[in-house]
Amino acid sequence: MNDLIFNFREDKPQLVNSVFIIDSINQLNTEIFSERERDYIQHQLENNRQLINLNYYYHWNFIVCIKDNNNKFSRLEEFRKVGGQLAKVVAEQELDFVNIVDQLSDRHYALALVEGLALASYQFNKYRTGNNQKSGFKRINLYSQNFTSEVLEELEVLIEATYKTRDLVNEPASTLTSTKLADEAMKIGNEVGIHVQVLRKNEIQQLGMGGLLGVNQGSNEPPTFTIMEYKPKNSLNTKPIVLVGKGLVYDTGGYSLKPSDSMDDMKCDMAGAAAVMNTLRALARINYPLHIIGLIPSTDNRIGPNALSPGDIIKMHNGKTVEVLNTDAEGRLILADALSYATQFDPELTLTMATLTGSAIRAIGERASVAMGNAPKHIMEKLEQSGYKTFERIAIFPFWDDYAEELKSEIADLKNIGGKYAGAITAGKFLEKFAPNPFIHIDIAGTAFIKKNGDYAPFGATGVGVRLLVDFLKSLYPKN
Ligand code: BES
Ligand code: MN
Ligand code: ZN
Repeated sequence: MNDLIFNFREDKPQLVNSVFIIDSINQLNTEIFSERERDYIQHQLENNRQLINLNYYYHWNFIVCIKDNNNKFSRLEEFRKVGGQLAKVVAEQELDFVNIVDQLSDRHYALALVEGLALASYQFNKYRTGNNQKSGFKRINLYSQNFTSEVLEELEVLIEATYKTRDLVNEPASTLTSTKLADEAMKIGNEVGIHVQVLRKNEIQQLGMGGLLGVNQGSNEPPTFTIMEYKPKNSLNTKPIVLVGKGLVYDTGGYSLKPSDSMDDMKCDMAGAAAVMNTLRALARINYPLHIIGLIPSTDNRIGPNALSPGDIIKMHNGKTVEVLNTDAEGRLILADALSYATQFDPELTLTMATLTGSAIRAIGERASVAMGNAPKHIMEKLEQSGYKTFERIAIFPFWDDYAEELKSEIADLKNIGGKYAGAITAGKFLEKFAPNPFIHIDIAGTAFIKKNGDYAPFGATGVGVRLLVDFLKSLYPKN
């Protein structure tokens, strides 16, 4: 994991590269800080500085003080952001470790700071050579009265899963083919001990997955359909939860070709798959007692002599026919087959995670993911709550049945696009026609990939979805 190591320490903190998290200046040991230093710190605090850097020639110390604003979730986010600022200093100064000294009574804030620092320290170095390689730092030591190494280990698992998600999404399609994506799922299976089965083209044909096969027609690479199952003995759920991730390794749009600048980051079109795969990794690594099945339909969407043409009619896994009027609305075709496949498991809940529509971005921008579904309201609210808690925010869209009217076709059971407006919702309605109930759909088109550095994610893949889903599933089935 970019060599980042977390340590929980119970000895006395060293006074080198230490980050003191405080509520008030009185918490700073007078033996450590001189009167002049305390004056300076006091002055900075009066000016509402949240992060104070103290440079001692060969090392640094830092003070972090963030006012209580009566909103726990936004305060947590401020700690993550300060973690992100800290990561910048750490990188510029090439510090190879930091000591986090938590002086607060509630451990969640120090954890959020560590989370922001770790997430911001991610580097995708694989294709940088020589001096162009960016060095990451090595160690975060945490000194705190409030928690155990267990809590820190769980955070480490989430960071690792988010890093791995980013690695997969940042990988170009020329190297991350559908077959490679399936290999990666296998690797996860071997690493954390979950069962993984990969269906190849002939099996996909036998299953009649006309959506996945149709999108694959323009490709030189065979499609894959990956089934991951984590089934611990002491599961809290009796029927499984099915997570479906869009594994479109590259989206040119097909014959309904995208304009070239819209294609630049379409290697990110498997971000839903990467998030689902690594959500399973994280839950298995923390031994969370939940029975989860992950389904990953995967192909690229290209042009070629055999590619789907607008107007073609395909037959889906559940027997329904679809008139493909826009080959760029391909995500719903491969997801629909996976959702239809999911019905055999009689799931407790089925959830799709997908970079599905530009419409979701036009509606609410890049600050939040769009979600919708027919699950009971209290479940939708839990998802929304997890969105605030992890700050992978969720905006719940309406999901009224009459939106589905736009999907009626003159000559087939359905067409694959709706009208001019509300494209994120009509896409969700299309999926719902194939899904077992209750069903939730999360559209991460706006949040999966950023084209400038974020508060604690560098340019590129954000790894969105993992922290959200783990928190959501845990909140649905709390351990005690
Ligand atoms: N993969 C795209 C959606 C997307 C857009 C993801 C921008 C990330 C950033 C999806 O396959 C797509 O092309 N959707 C079309 C659907 C339309 C043709 C109905 C879209 O949103 O334009
Ligand atoms: Mn598309
Ligand atoms: Zn797509």
